[in-house]
Amino acid sequence: MKEFSMFLNIKIILLSCYILSCVPFPDSAREVPVLPATSEASALLKWKATLDEQSQSLLSSWVGSNPCQGWMGIGCSKATANAQSVVTNIQLRNVSLVGTLLHVDTWSLQNIVTLDLGWNALFGNIPSNLVNMTQLRILQLSFNKFSGVIPPEIGMLKYMSELSLNDNDLVGHIPDSIRNFTNLTLLYLSSNSLEGHIPDSIGNFTNLAVLYLAKNSLTGRIPNSIRNLVKLSQLYLFGNNLTGPIPPEIGALKLVYMCDLSQNFLTGAIHSTIGNMTNLDYLYLYGNELSGSIPPEIAGARTLIDLEISDNSINGTIPISFRNFTRLERLDLSNNQLSGLIPQDMNGTRMKNFQVSNNMLSGPLPHDICASGLIQLIGAAYNSFSGPVPKSLKNCNSLIRLRLDSNQLTGNISNDFGIYPELNYIDLSNNKLLVRCRATGGCVLI
Ligand SMILES: *[C@@H]1O[C@H](CO)[C@@H](O)[C@H](O)[C@H]1NC(C)=O
Ligand SMILES: *[C@@H]1O[C@H](CO)[C@@H](O)[C@H](O)[C@H]1NC(C)=O
Ligand SMILES: *[C@@H]1O[C@H](CO)[C@@H](O)[C@H](O)[C@H]1NC(C)=O
Ligand SMILES: *[C@@H]1O[C@H](CO)[C@@H](O)[C@H](O)[C@H]1NC(C)=O
Ligand SMILES: *[C@@H]1O[C@H](CO)[C@@H](O)[C@H](O)[C@H]1NC(C)=O
Ligand SMILES: *[C@@H]1O[C@H](CO)[C@@H](O)[C@H](O)[C@H]1NC(C)=O
Ligand SMILES: *[C@@H]1O[C@H](CO)[C@@H](O)[C@H](O)[C@H]1NC(C)=O
Ligand SMILES: *[C@@H]1O[C@H](CO)[C@@H](O)[C@H](O)[C@H]1NC(C)=O
Ligand SMILES: *[C@@H]1O[C@H](CO)[C@@H](O)[C@H](O)[C@H]1NC(C)=O
Ligand SMILES: *[C@@H]1O[C@H](CO)[C@@H](O)[C@H](O)[C@H]1NC(C)=O
Ligand SMILES: *[C@@H]1O[C@H](CO)[C@@H](O)[C@H](O)[C@H]1NC(C)=O
Repeated sequence: MKEFSMFLNIKIILLSCYILSCVPFPDSAREVPVLPATSEASALLKWKATLDEQSQSLLSSWVGSNPCQGWMGIGCSKATANAQSVVTNIQLRNVSLVGTLLHVDTWSLQNIVTLDLGWNALFGNIPSNLVNMTQLRILQLSFNKFSGVIPPEIGMLKYMSELSLNDNDLVGHIPDSIRNFTNLTLLYLSSNSLEGHIPDSIGNFTNLAVLYLAKNSLTGRIPNSIRNLVKLSQLYLFGNNLTGPIPPEIGALKLVYMCDLSQNFLTGAIHSTIGNMTNLDYLYLYGNELSGSIPPEIAGARTLIDLEISDNSINGTIPISFRNFTRLERLDLSNNQLSGLIPQDMNGTRMKNFQVSNNMLSGPLPHDICASGLIQLIGAAYNSFSGPVPKSLKNCNSLIRLRLDSNQLTGNISNDFGIYPELNYIDLSNNKLLVRCRATGGCVLI
């Protein structure tokens, strides 16, 4: 009997050993041995081998068979009872990598969610087999030397949320297939050589917060579908070859605080709906071919800090509603055909930079132009301003640069100007100002 009982005990012990060693309990999941030479590891090591020597030595931690253990820049999912950890992130930003993505075995890295290789010296095409990384949400390849086209297949990556390919040498069109990115929040394609139109389908990106297409060679119009980008906060289209009008639908972008459409070939008038952009801090429309007059409704964007419409063909007057801009620090309307008076009660309490040169403006300059005590730069040359020099200029210590030349200002310079510790340029020439001239020739400010 005793013998039998001992035998039973031994059997039970053996049995529990058997259970422990063969059925992984949730708590001990991380200790599940990783298969030797996983396909992820070999895919990464193969890619490493294609990089230049310096990059390879940088990735000296990439050895062995488990990328989830201490490999530089590699992030993994947490292991669970049912799954061992897999590589989900590659983050090697700004580490001087030199090489291509041409021979990446994307099939073996199909769990990647974030691929961040920005600010390196990677070159060659962006390979279309990236679409094997079906979970990809963040693709950051900015500030490299990638060339060729954006592969249209990329549209298959339906979870794409942040696509950053800016500052490369990409050519060709923005593929229409990106319409599939319904969850896109950031799109950075600026500073490439992209051509063709901005696809209508950008209107599908109803979660888009940042649209950065600046400094390419994009042509055609700004699509009306832009109205659907109701979550947009930053819109950068500057430095392209865009034509046609600014679509009135832009007024629907109520969260945009930064709108830069400068340096294109935009024509037509600025539509009054621009005043519906009630969150605007920065509005840059300079360097286009805009005509017509500035709509008074623009002052609806009353939070504006910086308004630049210079180098266009804008005519008409500066609307009186400009007095509603109480936060304005910089106003640049130079090189247009504006006429009439500057609203005298313009609230310049924060103004630092006031530029209206090369227009046909007349009447007096605003008396309190330096009431803020902050103004540094004033450009009002080449207009028909008359009357006295603004009184507030006399004690305007902040002044760095003042151009009032080629107007019809009157007064006595000795009385009107004071001492300017910061001043480095002043031009009052070609006015009707009285100056004291030496008998020996030459006139001086005293
Ligand atoms: C890249 O790294 C260098 C130093 O390693 C640093 O000075 C620079 O600011 C970094 N650039 C970015 C964009 O992170
Ligand atoms: C995805 O990977 C598989 C296996 O390597 C390959 O046959 C296929 O062509 C890849 N898909 C694309 C779109 O490149
Ligand atoms: C969209 O993005 C959000 C936040 O990034 C994420 O939670 C959600 O799962 C995504 N949906 C799809 C369909 O990708
Ligand atoms: C968009 O996604 C669907 C399904 O995910 C796919 O069948 C289609 O080919 C994709 N379209 C493009 C243009 O990539
Ligand atoms: C995407 O935009 C295109 C062009 O504007 C439109 O035809 C298509 O129906 C849109 N798709 C979705 C899913 O909104
Ligand atoms: C864009 O405009 C510039 C002139 O500003 C011109 O040299 C260039 O050829 C144009 N590019 C396209 C694609 O229209
Ligand atoms: C601009 O606002 C006015 C009044 O709130 C509204 O009637 C109009 O539809 C808006 N326009 C756009 C383009 O949002
Ligand atoms: C300017 O402000 C005044 C008073 O606050 C307001 O009545 C007027 O409608 C505003 N004008 C514009 C164009 O916003
Ligand atoms: C402004 O220019 C347009 C043509 O662009 C012209 O029709 C209009 O009469 C001009 N207005 C003024 C006030 O000069
Ligand atoms: C300018 O606006 C500020 C803020 O609204 C206000 O405090 C100040 O009195 C205004 N100044 C003038 C001259 O209207
Ligand atoms: C200009 O002002 C100075 C200093 O007040 C004065 O001496 C001078 O006579 C004035 N010149 C004229 C022409 O009024």
